[in-house]
Amino acid sequence: ITKKHGLPENFLWGASTSAYQVEGANLSHGKGPSVQDIKTVPAGTSELDVCADFYHRYAEDIALMAEMGFKTFRFSIAWSRVLPEGTGRVNQEGIDFYNNVINECLKYGIEPLVTMFHFDLPAALEKKGGWSRRESVGEFVEFAKLLYTNYGDRVKYWLTINEQNMLTLVGDVIGTCNMEGVTNKYKKLYQENHHMLLAQAKAMKLLHEMCPGAKIGPAPNISLVYPATCKPKDVLAAQNFNAIRNWLYLDMAVYGRYNDLVWKFLEEHDAIPVIEDGDMDIMEQANPDFIGFNYYNTATVEWDDSPVAVTDSEKKDQQSAGIEPGVYKAYPNPNLLRTEFGWEIDPDGFRATIREMYSRYHLPMIVTENGLGAYDKLTEDGKVHDDYRIEYLRKHIEQIKLAADEGAEMMGYCPWSAIDLVSTHEGITKRYGFIYVNRDEFDMKDLARYRKDSFYWYKKVIETNGEDL
Ligand code: BG6
Repeated sequence: ITKKHGLPENFLWGASTSAYQVEGANLSHGKGPSVQDIKTVPAGTSELDVCADFYHRYAEDIALMAEMGFKTFRFSIAWSRVLPEGTGRVNQEGIDFYNNVINECLKYGIEPLVTMFHFDLPAALEKKGGWSRRESVGEFVEFAKLLYTNYGDRVKYWLTINEQNMLTLVGDVIGTCNMEGVTNKYKKLYQENHHMLLAQAKAMKLLHEMCPGAKIGPAPNISLVYPATCKPKDVLAAQNFNAIRNWLYLDMAVYGRYNDLVWKFLEEHDAIPVIEDGDMDIMEQANPDFIGFNYYNTATVEWDDSPVAVTDSEKKDQQSAGIEPGVYKAYPNPNLLRTEFGWEIDPDGFRATIREMYSRYHLPMIVTENGLGAYDKLTEDGKVHDDYRIEYLRKHIEQIKLAADEGAEMMGYCPWSAIDLVSTHEGITKRYGFIYVNRDEFDMKDLARYRKDSFYWYKKVIETNGEDL
């Protein structure tokens, strides 16, 4: 047996964005509203009408990505830009926009890596009940077919649903699910989850039929869960949370099987989804070509013996304390540093996550997000000295290289984010990009682009295929 080691020559270096966070023009040019446009914007943060103005400046931005040497660019397609009502009528201007983005990438030899759905369900579908309806499966497949028909001749890499696990675990925080009047939240969320899994499986199968040679994978947020101590019960709690947070999604995408621990958890919560005849066959036929995954940090949990909450306010308290009664309880890891936004930083955990994933699924992996949000400062002379971001990325790339040396098949690395964009709930001044966008939360300034120090550093990393960090 010959095992491959190290990063391959054709490693896909790049970075990521998502439509609703970067484009702007959210209610113009024929685009219908998405759930992101109808939710209440978090206090102190701007609306989504401008974002980084990528809708108008994509050519300039992609030229900068090309200057960094990107081999790939991960972006998402706003479902309601191409199908304003989510189904039926097509907005040709939206179709043209993504054609332009794709062609612009290809002009520089950048492979588009397209996320089909990134937190922005068309509002018209949400109004009808969104993912809780069985019809949502067909609606997603219609959307997928439209994308493959229009872009399948040029797009070789596809991702289905961004962070489906987060949509199920914290969808109310992301603004993607309405929990008003819901008595059994698990029942609703895991039914929606089942529909998304089915939609994903069908979309994967359809791509393989319509565009032979193109590759597709899921894009959950995967991070290993540690036990707080070596107490055996803490290990059980970590296994519980690993199953609920991570493995459910990949077991389904890769093997078409419900994870046993999760199944038991759903039984105990009277939340087994309605599964129609044939659903599990569809799941089994999905056959992803690779696993895309977002990684920011690990999680740590301890055993929990709390009684099940009865009142709404008790339930809220448990949720904010990260308690799943009888299953696990969140535990702040004392061994890790934190970003200025309080996110734990854990490069070793990145490698541990990759190892675990590869040993479970044995598929090539591409990192679809990883990065550091910070309040960057633009200096008078137009510089951004983001050495803290370089440090974060360097340490994570080192771990990818080590994981690859140990045998994990790594296909690419797309940190978050290519360019500054609006964070999920902390505004645009929580910046992640290699490219600075000159605006503040409410003052749009001139939206000019500036190369951060990390821009030049990443260019060198790409040039040397990760050798010069
Ligand atoms: C991921 C999402 O969860 O994390 C992105 O896919 C998001 O959409 C990113 O922006 C960073 O999180 P935040 O909350 O800092 O924007």
